[in-house]
Amino acid sequence: MRILTGIQSTGVPHLGNLLGAILPAISMSRAGNNDAFLFIADLHSFTTVRDPQLRKENTYAVAAAWLACGLDVERVTFYRQSDVPEVTELTWYLQCMTPCPMLENAHSFKDALAKGTVPNAGVFNYPVLMAADILLYDTNVVPVGKDQKQHLEITRDIASVFNRAYGEDTFVMPEARIDAGLMTIPGTDGRKMSKSYNNTINVFLPEKELKKQVMGIVTDSKSLEEPKDPATDNVFQLFKLAAPPEAATAMEASYRAGGYGYGHAKKELLEVLLSRFAQERATFQGLMADRSVLDKQLAVGAEKARAVAQATLQRVRGRAGYGTGMPPAGPVVR
Ligand code: ADP
Ligand code: TRP
Repeated sequence: MRILTGIQSTGVPHLGNLLGAILPAISMSRAGNNDAFLFIADLHSFTTVRDPQLRKENTYAVAAAWLACGLDVERVTFYRQSDVPEVTELTWYLQCMTPCPMLENAHSFKDALAKGTVPNAGVFNYPVLMAADILLYDTNVVPVGKDQKQHLEITRDIASVFNRAYGEDTFVMPEARIDAGLMTIPGTDGRKMSKSYNNTINVFLPEKELKKQVMGIVTDSKSLEEPKDPATDNVFQLFKLAAPPEAATAMEASYRAGGYGYGHAKKELLEVLLSRFAQERATFQGLMADRSVLDKQLAVGAEKARAVAQATLQRVRGRAGYGTGMPPAGPVVR
């Protein structure tokens, strides 16, 4: 079964991204005989990010994070979206088969309108590029968060219109897989950890900066002596997610007993993060210090991806009446 998902390149992945998306996706890519395609959606980033250095930096950081977390490039086709230019040609064909109202109704476009600025046409066409990402690789399953559900529906609608016109076997019909069981990791202020809330813990940061983030976790003002409630405390919530269960049980008992301060808990949390992610941190730093390994891995991925992309595009071109040879006779689009 072919599984494909895109990862936005919007910065260095944080603990929420790691536990909520990267590690689950990597274990899924290892399961059974799944054939996984994972890519960095750097073309999508052009709808919002203009700075070329920032784009490049973010793309490398995302790639380094995935590799540091154990993505196996032998098994998984791991590539940068922009390294497969076939996707933009397919986007064009798909756009011409997409009714504008479908895109006007997309949440991503409506959200952009609601901000009060004039959205660019890239924002409008964002779901079509995403449909091309998926259809180009004969994808069966697309694991995504709830927020991407509508984009998957749009993809299926576009694929149906195209298949009806040019042959039912032109595109494989993809299914969304929305894993409701995935946990939401809380941030340093107790809200969902998110770049946009500025409440992240970033395990790839140098120790000093990571420490600053951990020390900044919001707690109540109970004194060291007072017993504390682990269920409502942000430090404990994060500790529980990262530490071995015995350690969490022990910390829970210390909270309830009193005589154990939030400063102690933060120190323990920092230690657990540093030890649990020691390997990942070292690999990440190494990959970011010498980008040639990342370049090489991404080039291998791009080559594997392009072979599949070219075959699909050939099929689409032939059916739509491009290239050499006569297109097959069949239903025509009016
Ligand atoms: P952010 O909210 O920081 O901008 P993204 O929207 O780029 O993060 O999320 C990238 C991936 O990480 C998505 O699959 C998303 O579901 C997952 N993710 C982000 N934040 C969390 C979190 N706090 N808990 C669990 N998963 C998360
Ligand atoms: N739009 C997705 C997001 O914001 C990223 C993405 C781009 C994607 N192309 C994709 C996800 C194709 C799955 C399949 O998270």
